[in-house]
Amino acid sequence: AWSDISVFESIDSTSTWVKSQSESQVVCLAEHQTAGRGRHGHQWQSPNAENIYLSLSWQFDGQPEHLSLLSLWVGVIVAEALADAGLSGHGIKWPNDIYWQQQKMGGILLETSNLASMIVIGIGLNVNMQHDNSIDQPWVSLNQAMGQAVDRNHILLGLLDKLHAGLSAFASMSVSELKQQWQKWDLIRDRKVSFLDRENKLVGDALGVDDSGQLQVRLESGEMKSFGTTISKVRW
Ligand code: BTN
Repeated sequence: AWSDISVFESIDSTSTWVKSQSESQVVCLAEHQTAGRGRHGHQWQSPNAENIYLSLSWQFDGQPEHLSLLSLWVGVIVAEALADAGLSGHGIKWPNDIYWQQQKMGGILLETSNLASMIVIGIGLNVNMQHDNSIDQPWVSLNQAMGQAVDRNHILLGLLDKLHAGLSAFASMSVSELKQQWQKWDLIRDRKVSFLDRENKLVGDALGVDDSGQLQVRLESGEMKSFGTTISKVRW
């Protein structure tokens, strides 16, 4: 299904490279990134460690407000690909971080390309990483979670297949179906979460997502609040 796949030994960022291309369905992979990007302007440590650093461009003709649903949907696609590969016990921390036992295994970054309706989807997945002292949060890699060596190509092929099918299906999916699919993986539902809202630390119970993919939280005061994907980190 993907016909245009470029593989680099080393690159600044696979997402930057895909952004420089003008076609939809361009795929870029690298063994190592020197300037991997995460959400919120964070870095994504990208050592040469048999991990997956993947970016692809996708024509997006939907409403701009559906972009956050798409970003949730990509999380579901990755979670399902991992389940197909035999992983269990993983889930999604809103909006689309892949976690296993409270440790982060993968992250997803959606960016708009210079071309109006093209988006660039970047996926970083720890597959065979042994140690990396420069990562500032609890992390795990797929081989640790599976308790065995993992064939990265096998994971990658499954992931690419699922991405193509899932992204193609997105346009015809209803909001309630998307929400339902995402909810199956929701790790923070009914849990206490805290986050910074501007300068203020807020605490509340996560209640899932609304029709635009925003996280619904019932604050300790009883007040309901929803958060778009641009808010600062949620802690749980
Ligand atoms: C996050 O959780 O903050 C998102 C991390 C996304 C990392 C991937 S690795 C491949 C692609 N290229 C990048 O520079 N970032 C994404």
